[in-house]
Amino acid sequence: MARQGLPGLLDTEALRKDFPILERSLHDGKKLVYLDNAATSQTPRQVIDVLSEYYEQHNANVHRGVHVLAEEATALYEGARDKVAAFINAPSRDEVIFTKNASESLNLVANMLGWADEPYRVDHETEIVITEMEHHSNIVPWQLLSQRTGAKLKWFGLTDDGRLDLSNIDEVITEKTKIVSFVLVSNILGTVNPVEAIVRRAQEVGALVLIDASQAAPHMPLDVQALQADFVAFTGHKMCGPTGIGVLWGRQELLEDLPPFLGGGEMIETVSMHSSTYAPAPHKFEAGTPPVAQAVGLGAAVDYLSSIGMDKIAQHEHAITEYAVKRLLEVPDLRIIGPSTAEERGAAISFTLGDIHPHDVGQVLDEQGIAVRVGHHCARPVCLRYGIPATTRASFYLYSTPGEIDTLVEGLEHVRNFFG
Ligand code: ALA
Repeated sequence: MARQGLPGLLDTEALRKDFPILERSLHDGKKLVYLDNAATSQTPRQVIDVLSEYYEQHNANVHRGVHVLAEEATALYEGARDKVAAFINAPSRDEVIFTKNASESLNLVANMLGWADEPYRVDHETEIVITEMEHHSNIVPWQLLSQRTGAKLKWFGLTDDGRLDLSNIDEVITEKTKIVSFVLVSNILGTVNPVEAIVRRAQEVGALVLIDASQAAPHMPLDVQALQADFVAFTGHKMCGPTGIGVLWGRQELLEDLPPFLGGGEMIETVSMHSSTYAPAPHKFEAGTPPVAQAVGLGAAVDYLSSIGMDKIAQHEHAITEYAVKRLLEVPDLRIIGPSTAEERGAAISFTLGDIHPHDVGQVLDEQGIAVRVGHHCARPVCLRYGIPATTRASFYLYSTPGEIDTLVEGLEHVRNFFG
């Protein structure tokens, strides 16, 4: 099938030179085809260099010392906050809280609400709303909160083609709803969700909105003001940054009003043996020594992505995803789990291949140097909904090429032949 002239592709030949790992060969010389970007993205030289320089020249604890290194490390850490705030168009840098990953960001909001006073308090008379396509990290914290407080946990179901079923939106989100927490782009289905409709209904009833943007922030322009949510969570390692760094953006008034979750150094104003007062946000929510190098690395990743342009990255991934959907649907017995068009979908495509178990698919692909993820992708309710034990998932990024899609499709033919 012809793939010349796909519109909107980035110059991947030049860009891939930034990613040393993409040069790797595996299993006796098979070139690595890395299609597991929804699990974690690869790291460009520009970020690796910043991390090395940080440890070689500036490493110190932050906000604590008066010596040169401490001041440099503090400036770099707080500089990373400025970069992230600009990247997501946050009205204030003080609205950007560094955490260790998106899971921690989501858990932080659940705990803020669990310990909050009125009007935010979640208790046995209130309701929490999520969706059936959430990652476990946006299900389990709410189950824990519901068990602790007696609040009722409700969710939107899914349509057969992998979209949110919002037909009963007025019954799911009601006057009792305190928080609606949902994923912007599904990590398993690839679906891009209709934020506006959900936010509008949540605002009608005065509920807070938390958006899990883990699979969105790396792939498309993210404007927290345009989303009109109250909180947005994402992680660094899926967007060319290091592991160990996540972000929670929250509206300033809320961060001022809501209580901290973790207590410790640096989150306080004063401490006596009887009580403490807290530092203003974001420090109120960053107890202990923060992930300094990781935040600096995330700042470098944001610089890297911005230098390419998030619009251009989104355009590239759309072209790659459109091509991938088309080519995958040519493979006999392949069923896409999720939207089977490139519209309103992100760059992660889950599928089943006849009755071959996804773990077998993944293993035979791996032998050919092709890295995909298999399993329930930490979204087991989605597999239950579609009556499958697991899927194989190929997920793309700014350095993915049409040639890699062709290699995947050839690899799947090989899997079919292998299993007869
Ligand atoms: N959330 C990551 C994934 O979907 C780990 O693979």
